[in-house]
Amino acid sequence: MCGIVAVTGYKKALPLLLNGLGKLEYRGYDSAGIAIIHSETKNIVCNKTEGKLKNLINNLSEKNIPGTVGIGHTRWATHGKPEVKNAHPHIDSSGTVAVVQNGIIENFQDLKNKLQKEGIIFNSDTDTEVIPHLIQRELNTLSKLKLENNGSTLLVAVRNVISDLEGSYALAVLWSGAPSSLVVARRQAPLIIGLGEGEFICASDTPAIANFTNIILPLEDEEIALLTPLGIEIYDSNNERQYRNPVSLKVSEQVIDKMNFKHFMLKEIYDQPDTAKNWLENYLIKNSENGQYQIKYPFDTKFLESIARIEIIACGTSKHAAMVGSFLLEQFSGIPTNVYYASEFRYSPPPLLPNTLTIGVSQSGETADTIAAIDMEIKRRSIAGDEKFRPNLIAITNRSESSIGRQVSNIIDICAGIEVGVAATKTFFAQLLSFYGLAIHFAQIKGSQSPDEIKKLITELIKLPPLLEDLLEKHDQSSEKLAHDFFNIKDVIFLGRGINYPIALEGALKLKEISYIHAAGYPAGEMKHGPIALLDKKVPVISIASPGEVFDKVISNAQEAKARDSYLIGIAPECNGTEIFDYLMKIPSSNEWVSPLLNIVPLQLLSYHIAAHRGLDVDQPRNLAKSVTVE
Ligand code: M6R
Repeated sequence: MCGIVAVTGYKKALPLLLNGLGKLEYRGYDSAGIAIIHSETKNIVCNKTEGKLKNLINNLSEKNIPGTVGIGHTRWATHGKPEVKNAHPHIDSSGTVAVVQNGIIENFQDLKNKLQKEGIIFNSDTDTEVIPHLIQRELNTLSKLKLENNGSTLLVAVRNVISDLEGSYALAVLWSGAPSSLVVARRQAPLIIGLGEGEFICASDTPAIANFTNIILPLEDEEIALLTPLGIEIYDSNNERQYRNPVSLKVSEQVIDKMNFKHFMLKEIYDQPDTAKNWLENYLIKNSENGQYQIKYPFDTKFLESIARIEIIACGTSKHAAMVGSFLLEQFSGIPTNVYYASEFRYSPPPLLPNTLTIGVSQSGETADTIAAIDMEIKRRSIAGDEKFRPNLIAITNRSESSIGRQVSNIIDICAGIEVGVAATKTFFAQLLSFYGLAIHFAQIKGSQSPDEIKKLITELIKLPPLLEDLLEKHDQSSEKLAHDFFNIKDVIFLGRGINYPIALEGALKLKEISYIHAAGYPAGEMKHGPIALLDKKVPVISIASPGEVFDKVISNAQEAKARDSYLIGIAPECNGTEIFDYLMKIPSSNEWVSPLLNIVPLQLLSYHIAAHRGLDVDQPRNLAKSVTVE
C-alpha cells in the first residue's frame, strides 16, 4: 500500500515522478504528492493534493519545477484521514528534509511525544511525519561534528533514525543540504532501484520503473542506499557495503490498455479464456511416448514426493483460491490440507508437523501479512533442526519478481498478465488453475486417483477456453439486465457447498468490494443454523448448484430460502431441480471438479454490472488498494 517513486540523475524529475506514480496508483489513491529539489535555489518544492493522482497532475499542469532530484507518493491512508495535510511528502520544520514512506511506524506516538516536548510542531496526523523531524535533528547533531553537507551525511542521519523506528517501512529522503542525493531504505516493504540511462529511479514496484529501464537492483530487507547521479552505495543493517549485480526485469512492461472496455475489471474478466489458454500452454505437457499429460514446473519437484500434509497461507481472494485448492488437494489428491489467513497464521501458527508443504498464495507477491507469515514459517522450521520439519515451500504468484518471488525459490507463476482492477478476477482464475495443476501432480505421484480419473479432469481443463468464451457471451448482457433490477439492494446471500463454497465466498467478496453492498457467503447447509434469520423478500439469495455430490442438498437449501420469500438466483446448468430458481444463470454442464472455474464467471460479471450501474469507481473502489503492504 502506498506507492513510492524517487529519482536522481540528469533528466527533469517531475515527468519521471508523475509517470511512475501513474503506474503505482493501484497501491493507493487517497492522495498524492511530490517534492523536488529546485535546481537553482536548491530548496525543496512540494506539491500535494487530496484524492486521485489526476488532481495532482492538474494542479501541476501550469507549474514548471526545474530539478532532477525528487520523490513522489501515492497514498493509502493508515494514520490520518485522506486530506492534503496527511499526504506525503512530509517535511521537517526547517523545510530542508522531505520524506515519503510506505508502511507503518508502530512507535510513532512515543517518538512524536518526545519531539513535541522538544518544541517540534506537527502538521499532520500521520506516523510518517516523525521521520523528517528526526532526520533534521540528526543532521543538526552531525553538523556539530563538522561533517560535510553531502549524501554520505544524509545516509548516516537516515541510518541513525531508522534504527529507532519500529514497524515496517520503505522510504525515500531528500535533503536540500545534499541536493543531488537521495537516500532510500526498506524494512518489510518493497523497494526496487532501476538503473536508467542518466538516472536512477527507485520505486515500490516494477511497473513504475519498466518504462525507463529493465535493469534493476532490488533492495533487500533492512538495506539502505545512497543514490547520486554518479552511482549507488548499498549497505546492510550492519553497515556493511553490499555489492551485487543488477538483474533484468523478466517481463518488459506490458501494454496496460483498457481496449474498448469501460473498465479494466470487465476487460480482465474477458481475459479469462486467454488465461486458461496460457496456463494450458505453459503448464500442461503431453508425453510423446505414452500420450499422458503431465504438469510442468520450473523447479525440481522431487521434494514433493515426501510431502504428507499441506498448509496454505493467503489473504482475500487468494485465500478463496486456496480453499478451492485445499478441497482439490484433499479430495482429489488425498493429502490433508489446511488453509490459513496469513494475518492469523503469523500470530497463532498450527503446531509444527513433519513433512509439510507450505504454499503461499499472493497475486501481488507484496502482501505484508503473507510475506510475514511465510517468513515466520521459514524461520521456525529452520530452527527446528530436524530434517523432517524443514521448510518446503511453493509460492503461487502473478509477480515472480516480487518480494514473495524472492523469498521463495519454488515459484508457480500464474502468468495472468498485469491486473489493474483492484478486484481480482483473472488472477483468481489463474490461481485456481495452479491448484488444479498441483492436485493433478500430487494425484499422480501419490496414486490417489486412477490414470483415467486424472485424464478425465485434464480433458475437462482442456475444454475450458471455448466454454469460458461462451459463458462471457451469454452472461455479459443477462447480468447487466439483472444488475438493473438489483442495483439498489442492501444485502445479498451467496450459497455454495463443497468445492463451490469458496466460490460463494468469492462471489460475496467481489460484490461488496466494488459495489459496497453487504454480501455474505455461506456453506449452503449452514444457512439454517443462523443466517436464515436474515432472509425475506428484500434479500436475494444466489445459489451455486453444480450437479454432483451435493446438488440435491443445495437445491433443498435453496428451497428453504424460497420459503422465506427470497428471490433466488441460480448458478447452475439447466437440469432437473433448477426450475426452482427465479432466475437461472446457465452454466455449461461439466464435471463437478472443474465447476468453480465456470461458476465464478457470472458472479464476477454480476458484481461488475451492479457496481457499474451504481456509477461507482469499479477499478479503484474506495478504501482499497491492489497491493496491501501493511499488516
Ligand atoms: O496480492 P494478494 O493476492 O496477496 O492480495 C490479497 C488480497 O488483498 C486481495 O485478494 C484482495 O482481497 C482483492 N481486493 C480481492 O479482489
